[in-house]
Amino acid sequence: MAVNTRTVSEKELDEQREYSLKVSAVLNQRYTDKPLACVVTYGCQQNVADSEHIKGMLDKMGYGFTDDRQKAKVIIFNTCAVREHAEDRVFGNVGALKKYKLANPDVVIALCGCMMQQKHIADKIYNSFPFVDLVFGTHVVHRLPELLYKAMTRRKRVFELPDEDGVIAEGLPVRRDNDSKAWLPIMYGCNNFCTYCVVPYVRGRERSRQVSDIVEEFEELVSEGYKEITLLGQNVNSYGKDLEPSVSFSELLRILNGIDGDFRIRFMTSHPKDCTRELLETMAQCDKVATHLHLPFQSGNNRVLKAMNRGYTREKYLELINYAKELMGDELSITSDIIVGFPGETREEFLDTLSLVNEVKATGLFTFIYSPRVGTPAAKMDDPVSHEEKAKWLAEILDAQEKISAAQMKLHAGKTFKCYVVGRGKLGDNYLAARTDGNLIIEFVGDDGLIGTFQNIKVIEPLTFVLKGEIVNC
Ligand code: 5AD
Ligand code: SF4
Repeated sequence: MAVNTRTVSEKELDEQREYSLKVSAVLNQRYTDKPLACVVTYGCQQNVADSEHIKGMLDKMGYGFTDDRQKAKVIIFNTCAVREHAEDRVFGNVGALKKYKLANPDVVIALCGCMMQQKHIADKIYNSFPFVDLVFGTHVVHRLPELLYKAMTRRKRVFELPDEDGVIAEGLPVRRDNDSKAWLPIMYGCNNFCTYCVVPYVRGRERSRQVSDIVEEFEELVSEGYKEITLLGQNVNSYGKDLEPSVSFSELLRILNGIDGDFRIRFMTSHPKDCTRELLETMAQCDKVATHLHLPFQSGNNRVLKAMNRGYTREKYLELINYAKELMGDELSITSDIIVGFPGETREEFLDTLSLVNEVKATGLFTFIYSPRVGTPAAKMDDPVSHEEKAKWLAEILDAQEKISAAQMKLHAGKTFKCYVVGRGKLGDNYLAARTDGNLIIEFVGDDGLIGTFQNIKVIEPLTFVLKGEIVNC
């Protein structure tokens, strides 16, 4: 049993199935052709996974799917609140639908996701975007059939945004975007309250899915032929701490690694505060767990890390990375997130981040300029450095990383990697593209029949962004 977590009951799910049938009946009455839905997803993989459930529910209601908003009878924007830029894009794209909605009043325009879970945003939508019919929060995604039915059949707009710690809904329908690569959320929410981050306010407290539910979904994916399964959580390292009896993330990885079949397990995101040596040892020992560690350090300066409430130091981070390198050597691929220009960060403090970039030698970096988020402690801190200056700092990081990546690509010459062949390549007509454990792409000449299989591929020529290789039998 999970402690303090409400699981959506079978009765509630049955109610939603009934609403789903009611929506189908309305659609049958209104349309002769199959009505289409357009689901637009912003932000992280958790949102992508939520959208796959949204599409699963829409599919059961009788919708087909389109990417063309002007052909859809329901348009859902699943939004992200992590940075201002993502929010601005949503406002722009929703505004652009006004004419379409006015010309087609039967179309339902809906907004959901992290942005909507913030009161000031929901108020703005309510007041400034009167053509938006339905707004629902992150804790009621499973109630989409009911909310859509109400939005379709009542004259009133539907705003359903309960502010709770969060629930877990098992057994929702799912329509996955890809047939070889799958997202599998193992937990929801975040307890860390990094001072810049809005996620804990909009996604609720950490809650882990039961091991049995995860294993069941995982086995289903394997039997359906999925080859790359990514376990998702804001902080996967604290998976299972809220379960009774508690289970560690390493234990979960070992259980999944023991499942029969030809597949690869990935996971994200790890938090350095909770990342254990045991997890790194598990990665090194479990043959099906990819040796790719996404371990965001955010800053290389201890004062800034403290102000961010990250709960570790530069030294502790390096200790983890060095141990991981010791265990996994060349096989290991590290990626990280970095925030440049946290409020009050000085040039000297930024240079510590730059030096950490050079020390870690990551395969790839996700870099962001700090974006103030309403309601977070950092948004109230003094922020004297200009955006232009921060943009220059960011460019310095990108420049350093480009050199590191190029040097690393060269080091791969002559090495053989076990790769999953993802599809056709870009280097030429007869090229296929394959992904290594560390998420690098190798292109090689091969037959289409190899797509969807694992192959050993030797790197013969490192190019700037991809590696060129050839298939080897070993
Ligand atoms: N400003 C800039 N970047 C942010 N991130 C989270 N919040 C903010 C913010 N307010 C970045 C962090 C996190 C990634 C998902 O987004 O680097 O790891
Ligand atoms: Fe945000 Fe920090 Fe939680 Fe990541 S760990 S989601 S950065 S609060």
